[in-house]
Formats: sequence, structure tokens, C-alpha cells
Amino acid sequence: MINIKKDFSLKTLNTFGIDVKAKQFISVTKQDELLEILRRFYASELFILGGGSNMLLTKDINKTVVHVNLKGIETVQEDENHIWLNVQAGENWHEFVLYCIENNYGGLENLSLIPGNVGTSPIQNIGAYGVELKDNFEFCEAINVQTLNTVKFNKADCEFGYRQSVFKNKYKSQFIITNVCFKLTKRKHNLHLDYGAIKTVLDQKNIQNPSIKDISDVVIDIRSSKLPNPKELGNSGSFFKNPIISAQHFEQLQQKFDLKYYPLASGDYKIPAGWLIDQCQLKGYRQGDAAVHKQQALVLVNHGNASGHDILNLAKYIQAQVFNTFNIKLEPEVNIY
Ligand code: EPU
Repeated sequence: MINIKKDFSLKTLNTFGIDVKAKQFISVTKQDELLEILRRFYASELFILGGGSNMLLTKDINKTVVHVNLKGIETVQEDENHIWLNVQAGENWHEFVLYCIENNYGGLENLSLIPGNVGTSPIQNIGAYGVELKDNFEFCEAINVQTLNTVKFNKADCEFGYRQSVFKNKYKSQFIITNVCFKLTKRKHNLHLDYGAIKTVLDQKNIQNPSIKDISDVVIDIRSSKLPNPKELGNSGSFFKNPIISAQHFEQLQQKFDLKYYPLASGDYKIPAGWLIDQCQLKGYRQGDAAVHKQQALVLVNHGNASGHDILNLAKYIQAQVFNTFNIKLEPEVNIY
């Protein structure tokens, strides 16, 4: 029996804590239920919700919201060095990372404390501290909302890029990811310590040969010091993507500013959006309950009762300031509805 709730508040189901209502709401815990819903409704009548961590809701949702709450972790294959885990979409990302650390399965430690669920992690190829989801991704399975067929996507099929995949582009809204399979190490872990802050904190703690647990702990320390906990202060992580500019644009800006940047293999430059916003003196800037986080300017926060529109207006103000100062257009990383 599918339990349909009417006029359901989504406040606790989006990490910005925006109080909008779903016309109808269904939480699915089994793949069969998901298929039944897809048979019963047209895809255009549905709004699929995962962990609610990468979205800004600006209005009530006049559709049936389907909360993908599938749970379970199973071993699909194992050898001396590796384990392949198949994880259901509704598993919380960070709890899954902690499960891996406890069992000494390596690969995801740098991705500790990222909000959201496993099922939405491939959509934007989540990444942090020198590691991206794609580095440990084996395949995912997803239901085509039109044909109801289950399709298996291997790594190449997903066309992963910086905060990008086919699920955000050519297949946008066409698939619901039901489970993701990861290939993780059981020994000889491939540690990524190259990201500056990780080394510094390991040195401070006097750790020379870190375990995956040490790295996870360090990442948790760094993230907690800069990024607000959505349970305490509504937010959606990085609100904007780090923009990429041409070498010519870069050289022009370098004459005026002491830029922070990452050179790319293409010859272009990636500029940290947080630094750009910070340079516009907007760290801690507040419009009512919508604000720029005090410790990391790339994160917008809800101090309590901001509406989605309040956050969106603040985002537009930031985009205008950054554009006027640097001639750079910031693009949102979060999905805006
Ligand atoms: N910076 C400032 N002021 C700020 C914020 C940043 O000057 O207010 C400077 C920092 O000093 C640093 C540079 O900008 O030199 C980059 O900052 P940081 O290392 O904090 O990383 P980021 O580029 O702002 C990205 C990801 C984060 C991820 C971190 C660590 C994007 C859009 N964001 O942030 O991802 O955790 O690197 O790998 O790529 C997320 O996607 O939600 C997210 C939090």
C-alpha cells in the first residue's frame, strides 16, 4: 500500500530548511513501490527528492514528491585487495563513508561529511579534498521514468566532469538512480594527501603514516571548521561552482588582483568562487535571514526563516557584485526549483 500524504511540508527534507509544501508526498522504501508509482503517474507529475542537500526550493511543489528512501548495503564481489559494494540510493552519504572507514574499506575517506544521499552522489559527481566520486565509482542502476526499464550505467556512460554527469545534462529528469556500486580497497589504500589543508592538519596532529580513519577525521575537522552543519544552520554546501576563465581573462585580472587560482590542463584557469565573493567584502553579509556564511563565502545560509526567494535574491546580488568587480559570471551549483 502506497501512503500518499497531502500538503506535506518539506522543511526537514531539504538542508536549506526552506518551508515549502508538496501537493502530495510519498516516501518509497522498496524498488517495487517506486515502479508502481511510475506506472500510476506520468513522469511530469512527479518530483524526485533524494537527500535534499543540493537544492534551493523557491515555491510550493504542485506535484507528487517522491522521496527515494531505499536502504541497504551489500557486497557484490570481493578479492584479496578490493571489495565492490552495492549501495541503495536512500543511504545517507556520510553514514556510508563511516561504514567504509569502520570496515577499513578505502577510497571515500576524503569525501567524509558531504551532506546528501548515495543515490544523488553521481548526479553532480560530488568531490572534495582532491577526490571525486568517479574515482571509486563502478556502476549505478537507474530506472528510466518513461520506459520503466532499469539501465546500468558504467563509469564511461556517466560522462563525469567537475560537478557534472549525464544525469545533470542530457538525461536530466529522465532517470531515477536506485543504487550505486563502488570499488573500494581492502589494503594498500591509495591515499590522497595532496590537498594542502589535509597535510597541514596531519602535521599538526603529528601523524606521519595516516590510516583512512585519520584522513576521514582530518577532513571532518576541516569541513566542520569552515562549513556549517545543516542541522544547525540551513545551507546547501557550495552555492556556486568555481568558475573557469580563459588565459587572456586571467592575465587581465592578474594585473589588478592577487588572484587565487588553479591552472587547468586546458590552459584555462579555475578561480575559487569563495575567494571572489570574499574579495567583494561579502563574507557574513546578510539580507534578513539569508546570509553569506562567515567562515566560507561560497556557502549561503538560512538563519531561520529565509524563504527560497530570499536566498535567491541574495545569490543574484552576489552574482552582480562579482560580475562588476571581476567580469566573471558565477553559476549556481545547486538546483533551483
Ligand atoms: N577562499 C577565500 N575566502 C572564502 C572562501 C575561500 O579566500 O570565503 C579561498 C581559500 O582561502 C582557498 C580557496 O578560496 O584559497 C579555495 O577555498 P576552499 O579550499 O575552501 O575550497 P573551495 O574551492 O571554496 C571546493 C568545493 C567544496 C569542497 C572544497 C574542498 C566547489 C564548488 N566547492 O570549495 O565542495 O569541499 O573545494 O575540496 O568546487 C560542495 O560542493 O558543496 C563543497 C563544499
